[in-house]
Amino acid sequence: MIDIEKAKKVFNDYVENYDKNNPRIAFKIAHTYRVVDVAEKISKELKLDEEQVNLAMLIGLLHDIGRFEQVRKYDTFEDKLSEDHADLGVKILQENNFISEFCEDEKYYNTILVAIKNHNKFKIAENLTEEEILQAKLVRDADKIDILKSITIENLDVLMDDDNINNSKISNEILDDFYHERQTKRALLKTPMDEYISYVGMIFDINFIPSLKILKEKGYINTIIDKCKNEEMPNIRKFINNYMDKRISNG
Ligand SMILES: [Fe+2]
Repeated sequence: MIDIEKAKKVFNDYVENYDKNNPRIAFKIAHTYRVVDVAEKISKELKLDEEQVNLAMLIGLLHDIGRFEQVRKYDTFEDKLSEDHADLGVKILQENNFISEFCEDEKYYNTILVAIKNHNKFKIAENLTEEEILQAKLVRDADKIDILKSITIENLDVLMDDDNINNSKISNEILDDFYHERQTKRALLKTPMDEYISYVGMIFDINFIPSLKILKEKGYINTIIDKCKNEEMPNIRKFINNYMDKRISNG
């Protein structure tokens, strides 16, 4: 049995140890709760059983547990400049069996830790069990949906230098991946526009149709595209909307 309300209380107690006046901490707390809600929505749309829905919500609650320590220690969300926040989260949950405070039932521990570890990697690792793959896919979708939502709310000049972004070019390799329906490789990012396109390109890594439907219904992608004045944007808009419609209608 997973008691999600109890797990939320433990999470609340845990984040009390961090400075909520720090906007990064406040943002991650809010992000976490939104990911829990989205994970619930997607897993119910997928008609998963109650335990699997609860497990998806618990993984959503814990997926970014490493972020708080990352901000405290390094004051950044950049894994490259600090450490991989998913691996850090797994370490925190394993230390002194902290995970047992969130969930008494040991049979879920592997799936929880594997899904968290895989939530931020370019690809899900191979050789996972079916349950691990399902939950890893679920948390990746829920996380991406909320990242995209965050971009629609956030001002461009907070996200990146506004002048810079509208004057910057999209690199050919980035466009090539985009128009081949491939998620952007972070190593190829060169300009602020490249990074912006990489957010739109997250759509190519969305796993489930219910996730695409949420994104379409909320209009996040079009809002993100409309915030940017680059001349390539009308083509990007057309391509990504066609892609989403195609996948949704193929089911
Ligand atoms: Fe994360």
